[in-house]
Amino acid sequence: MKVIETIKELRAELDALRSLGKTVGLVPTMGALHAGHVSLVRRSVADNDATVVSVFVNPTQFNDKSDLEKYPRTLEADCHLLEAQDATFVFAPSVAEMYPEPDTRSFSFAPLDTVMEGAFRPGHFNGVCQIVSKLFEAVRPDRAYFGEKDFQQLAIIRAMVRRCKYPLEVVGCPIVREDDGLAMSSRNTRLSAAERENALNISRTLYKSRNFAAAHTVSETQKMVEDAIAAAPGLRLEYFQIVDGNTLQPIANWADTPYAVGCITVFCGDVRLIDNIKYKEE
Ligand code: PAF
Repeated sequence: MKVIETIKELRAELDALRSLGKTVGLVPTMGALHAGHVSLVRRSVADNDATVVSVFVNPTQFNDKSDLEKYPRTLEADCHLLEAQDATFVFAPSVAEMYPEPDTRSFSFAPLDTVMEGAFRPGHFNGVCQIVSKLFEAVRPDRAYFGEKDFQQLAIIRAMVRRCKYPLEVVGCPIVREDDGLAMSSRNTRLSAAERENALNISRTLYKSRNFAAAHTVSETQKMVEDAIAAAPGLRLEYFQIVDGNTLQPIANWADTPYAVGCITVFCGDVRLIDNIKYKEE
């Protein structure tokens, strides 16, 4: 495995592989890798001849400066973990390498990016699209791998690939959970033991709501989740929305869509956690 810091060197390595007819998978990450990332890397290693894992804490997608500062940075440990997974390249550029000048491009995928995370984190998806498009252009992967935990991000990246006609396949991979149900997240490392215990109520509530939904309306299910999170110690709900999994727009009735997903964001102390659950799948 080779650690590369510049686009020029990365392109040279990948062009050489492509000239031999090799396929390339890209796993974009912000580092602080966990089993969720490992599942993406394993999938890419299985599907492609070479796998590039980018590790870059992208400043343009943080609308909260302190969130950016507190984001865990663990490149050395990340490289050990990636080596064990047979990743071919770790691409770990500096901010100056990715943004030699401010990126003034503006991406809009309304209404996909105006709801949920888009409403609560203005500019977040613009920053995600800026960096992911730069990574697509630097790596030119055959396939790119993203987790379904960031459900809205995945939908927006799929839309960007369609609109920009990037010649690649976006592969969405299922959420990976701890044994007790907590969705894997780099932010989990910031939870105290007590906060982590409180955070378990997020996935527990979502799983309960799936059974509840079988015999209740969308609005009753919505209220059940809101009430359960309000009653749970140490949690503050930012939003919970039951949406069509393709359009990301709220649904009023289960019959409105064959693909219904509940997306939630909860503060546990000052750590912002997201999760989702599928009520109906296409
Ligand atoms: O999901 C993430 O970790 C980030 O949003 C991504 C896709 C790596 C872009 O910085």
